[in-house]
Amino acid sequence: MKIGIDKIGFYTPHLYVDMNKLAVSRGVEPEKFTIGIGQDRMALAPITQDSVTLAANAALEILDEEDREKIDYVIFGTESGVDNSKSAAVYVHGLLGLNPYARSVEVKQACFGATAAIQMAKGHIALHPESKVLVLGSDIARYGLNTSGESTQGAGAVAMVISKDPRIMVLEEQEVCLTDDIMDFWRPVYSDKAYVDGKFSNEQYILFFQKVWKAYKEKTGLQLKDFEAICYHLPYTKMGLKALRTVLDETTENVQERLKGNYQISTQYNRNVGNIYTGSLYLSLLSLLELNEDLSPGARIGLYSYGSGAVGEFFTGVLEPDYRDHLNTEAHKQLFEGRKEVTVSEYEAIFQEVLPTDGSSVELDITEDPATICLAGIKEHSRQYVNKNR
Ligand code: COA
Repeated sequence: MKIGIDKIGFYTPHLYVDMNKLAVSRGVEPEKFTIGIGQDRMALAPITQDSVTLAANAALEILDEEDREKIDYVIFGTESGVDNSKSAAVYVHGLLGLNPYARSVEVKQACFGATAAIQMAKGHIALHPESKVLVLGSDIARYGLNTSGESTQGAGAVAMVISKDPRIMVLEEQEVCLTDDIMDFWRPVYSDKAYVDGKFSNEQYILFFQKVWKAYKEKTGLQLKDFEAICYHLPYTKMGLKALRTVLDETTENVQERLKGNYQISTQYNRNVGNIYTGSLYLSLLSLLELNEDLSPGARIGLYSYGSGAVGEFFTGVLEPDYRDHLNTEAHKQLFEGRKEVTVSEYEAIFQEVLPTDGSSVELDITEDPATICLAGIKEHSRQYVNKNR
């Protein structure tokens, strides 16, 4: 049975910071951020967006009535969840009006969460071929003002419907996973900002890639020439390139050029959004599919997922004949064009505006937020979400 990505949606908040201006304000050369890190714009979440609303907004653009009926499993990958007990998936399930006879859970392993969710979805569809699974990867990446990770922040979500006979991409059977208990990036339960050993995390990301790629080749006999493109988890767009470069000499110049060209295309959306943790790999896939007009159906795409702490995985997908007809390219173009730039001082003020942590209630003004689904406040310890269309 063919199982894979039937639909893919995306949402990012309406605010962004220009990385050139952030660099000037931080006293570094703009090229460090735009070339050295590889980021042009950084999405900024207003206080009225959290990982739940971002995911719900991403899913909203792809679901129709049939999906709402058939989805019986919602799996939410995140590392910026809003509750230590109740899953973010249950909130999204309610906000989208899905069939009540569904299972809704949250999964966590840093940026790897959505990949774990996809593999769980594959298993579920194999057992229940008529089902559909909603997979969500949604996060707000916060390292803090004036930190070395600041230029690699961002916010956004990707939503995917996984089903049999998918219309966009079939996920192939073979994959290789790797786990090693390391401290390269983590966020203790008492902290709203991540701790990171940046250089170590870069090294481990590359090492994990090399190990899973080597094991994958041995397992399948496939080589770089068998891939049209490889999409990477992208904490920043230079990161995947560093990993790709370490294996390019395995292949011919033609294949190298193809992989490097497609790498650039696959990083365009991420370059303008920043790190969205769990959704980053899938945003890169979306960028490739929507911006490369020369991809042929049947093309094989490699996917490298990495979640600090750490788990890595290399897996693959093959494009379906009419995949292009099932993308929302125009809507995403409008989403990017409709965003509003904020100054660095406005960004700093918005970044520091946080929800109360002492249990008090708060009412938020959602009139300035163009998103359909917003966080309207906290009342008696409970988040108040609003779907403006319902
Ligand atoms: N023009 C062009 N490139 C420049 C430059 C300039 N003027 N100034 C610096 N650079 C380059 C550096 O050479 C370096 O490139 P390289 O990594 O290819 O050598 C790059 O910009 C970053 O510079 P660096 O000094 O290493 O940056 P940093 O110490 O501020 O930290 C990170 C960068 C990524 C480590 C930091 O942002 C971080 O910790 N991020 C979060 C962790 C993360 O994303 N981990 C990834 C794995 S999940």
